[in-house]
Amino acid sequence: MHKITRRRFLQGTTSLLAMHTVPVAATLQSPTPRQSAGPFYPVELPLDDDNDLTHVAGQEQTASGQITDLDGRILDQNGLPLGGLRIEIWQCDINGRYRHPRDSGDRPIDPAFQGIGHTISDKLGRYRFRTIRPVPYPGRTPHIHVVVFPASEKPFTTQLYVAGDPRNASDFLYQRVPEAYRHLVTTEFRQSGTANIDFTASWDIVMAVTPG
Ligand SMILES: [Fe+2]
Repeated sequence: MHKITRRRFLQGTTSLLAMHTVPVAATLQSPTPRQSAGPFYPVELPLDDDNDLTHVAGQEQTASGQITDLDGRILDQNGLPLGGLRIEIWQCDINGRYRHPRDSGDRPIDPAFQGIGHTISDKLGRYRFRTIRPVPYPGRTPHIHVVVFPASEKPFTTQLYVAGDPRNASDFLYQRVPEAYRHLVTTEFRQSGTANIDFTASWDIVMAVTPG
């Protein structure tokens, strides 16, 4: 009985090994569509630009808005992690205001919102930010701006959208992404069961990078 079982196990192992040695046509993942950086990338970096946009050094207040944990991975088209890459996000605050001199909105700026943050992907390609769920401002559906700085490529900019937001249907930049690829710049913001966190969102970025 023991021998039969072991032989079957070995047979199974052999066929598993055989499966792994059969050449499989490489299926590259579709790269995340690029989108413009828009007019509001900060011209002056703040003193605090860590990966928690809901707290500003020296401020006791927490940013107004729905606190969101955003995480994900930066991958190449083979699904392999791209570690050690700088990733930045920037977005408007709860009042639709950017930290930018060309933002002419008349609502007050939330001084407790950092506006931009950065981190470095780890060896598994992972990144993580704490921010607010993006809100609309005149002419735009809610979105988060993203830029990744690969070693041998020009900066990769795109925008992340909220799945199911009805304003996506009339947003000129969202609609500029071919329909078949919109899911690559869209993710669910799920209600969190964690204290002090309203939403969680996960989103992987797939980059068409050349070795360098
Ligand atoms: Fe924007």
